[in-house]
Amino acid sequence: MAAAKPRPLVAGNWKMNGLRRSLATLDAVAAGYDASLKARADLLVCPPATLLSAFAQRAVGTRVAIGGQDCHAREAGAYTGEISAEMLADAGASAVILGHSERRQYFLETDAIVAEKTLAAWRAGLVAIVCVGETQAEREAGKTLSVVRRQLRRSIPAGATPANLVVAYEPVWAIGTGLTPTARDVAEVHALIRGDLRRIVGAAAAGQVRILYGGSVKPSNAAELMGVDNVDGALVGGASLKAEDFLGIAAAYRD
Ligand code: PGA
Repeated sequence: MAAAKPRPLVAGNWKMNGLRRSLATLDAVAAGYDASLKARADLLVCPPATLLSAFAQRAVGTRVAIGGQDCHAREAGAYTGEISAEMLADAGASAVILGHSERRQYFLETDAIVAEKTLAAWRAGLVAIVCVGETQAEREAGKTLSVVRRQLRRSIPAGATPANLVVAYEPVWAIGTGLTPTARDVAEVHALIRGDLRRIVGAAAAGQVRILYGGSVKPSNAAELMGVDNVDGALVGGASLKAEDFLGIAAAYRD
């Protein structure tokens, strides 16, 4: 008998968006997360750091979890402007997005830095959502699979388990562009990631690690993308800023 699939996760990455009044969006997400959805998928909202604590307090008693968007590798110290994984956990986060392509591109994060941050997340008891994905040029050069493999190998340190790791496949060219890969392309990369997870977490646990797809996920394409083999949820950027759209995506998991 095939092992049960992991429980899907729909995660919202708010990026550098959101003010205190955005608590209303969180309230609307929590209110719309009704029984049929609760039974089938987890929801996570990752607001900017300024809102983490308020969001986490507001989410108490709901089933919506709160996460960070990045962390520093060290626990504390003279790193002006940085936020540690321990601080995220202290503010009420249960997860953190790491190695997002915007961090890699604009803040020069390497796979080695992502690996250090992943260890930091685990040290603080957070789930690490490690992002991988090829650029347009890499895809056109036929390097998608080798790039994703390399990022997986170098960004995920020893010690990963289905409980502390989520992998997000986000083709860089699909983020914020409205473009998405075909279901077939998504299936190919997710199957590759699942195969590599056998080495990362062991063959028995590989099927239990959640692999999210991210990049221009919206209510109108969610059902198709979430229906692809080895897709265990979504990492949603722009569409997570509107409760209606975020819930519309999560609805792919409604009965
Ligand atoms: P998008 O962003 O949904 O706006 O394309 C996805 C992401 O960057 O995680």
